[in-house]
Amino acid sequence: MSSSTKSSACESCSSKTSTCSPDSCGNAEKNEQELRIKNNMARIKYRIAIVSGKGGVGKSTVTAGLAIALAKSGYTVGVLDADVSGPNMPHLLGIEDEKMTGDENGFLPVEAPHGIEVASVESIISASDAPVVWRGPMRSSLVNQFLADVQWGQLDFLLVDLPPGTGDEPLSIMQTMPLTGLVVVSTPSNLSLLDVSKIVNMAKMLNTRILGVVENMAYFECPGCHEKVFPFGEDTVKRLCEKYGLDMLGSIPMDASNRGSDVITEGSGIEKYTGDIARKITGILER
Ligand SMILES: Nc1ncnc2c1ncn2[C@@H]1O[C@H](COP(=O)(O)OP(=O)(O)O)[C@@H](O)[C@H]1O
Ligand SMILES: [Mg+2]
Ligand SMILES: [Zn+2]
Repeated sequence: MSSSTKSSACESCSSKTSTCSPDSCGNAEKNEQELRIKNNMARIKYRIAIVSGKGGVGKSTVTAGLAIALAKSGYTVGVLDADVSGPNMPHLLGIEDEKMTGDENGFLPVEAPHGIEVASVESIISASDAPVVWRGPMRSSLVNQFLADVQWGQLDFLLVDLPPGTGDEPLSIMQTMPLTGLVVVSTPSNLSLLDVSKIVNMAKMLNTRILGVVENMAYFECPGCHEKVFPFGEDTVKRLCEKYGLDMLGSIPMDASNRGSDVITEGSGIEKYTGDIARKITGILER
């Protein structure tokens, strides 16, 4: 760390006194990282976190689908896999065999199809089936390092796949990075909806805008007679959006075209629906 970045971090330090110096200060390292996060994030036009009350509702799938859709529309896109305990982004984007590299300026993201830049803990550990059992402080310090030191360059969009829920981990990431807004993913089930109301409160507390809600696994369409079956209930997400005054960004049905693989393939149902949702999001951001 050069002493010039250290002393510029000192300028914004809340505990600065007339006698302290950058080299003896215990806050200097932390402040310096905060400054690097601020500078790194300032080069990105829209910073969007994908959140859910629960795991398994398709948050990572929606994140990957949105990244593909935005990149195909010509935007420069990065994905930060901040779900350190369940990093799935490299797998979903089909780049699980590639590893991130680094130099003195920080980590270099892995490039996925359509030029999507990806940073994930899955891309720094050697075997993708090695369980990530790091404790909380280590997980959050890794995410902070990613926020501060991944060399994204100029991006239109950084999509952040957050850990599920409204616990300490997603909360601290949202507090650390300046967010443009949140995209909430929920299934129509009552339990999933219940957790969305917690996200609404959290967003209020953080003073962060909710761009809208994506309903995933909304229904299953019978391939024979095309009847729609609603295993978790119908219109529940729509009613929740009305209750809280949120935009409904779209409904994604159960998609069987990807059978046996979670990778988002060209022409799959997920790609089609997330494409529509991405257009809605850019419409909201650019209006
Ligand atoms: N609309 C959908 N149709 C079919 N399978 C889906 C759909 N959305 C997600 N999945 C599958 O459900 C599982 C959980 O999705 P994932 O995106 O990993 O959820 P989360 O990130 O919320 O834990 C994955 O196997 C994924 O491929
Ligand atoms: Mg996930
Ligand atoms: Zn049928």
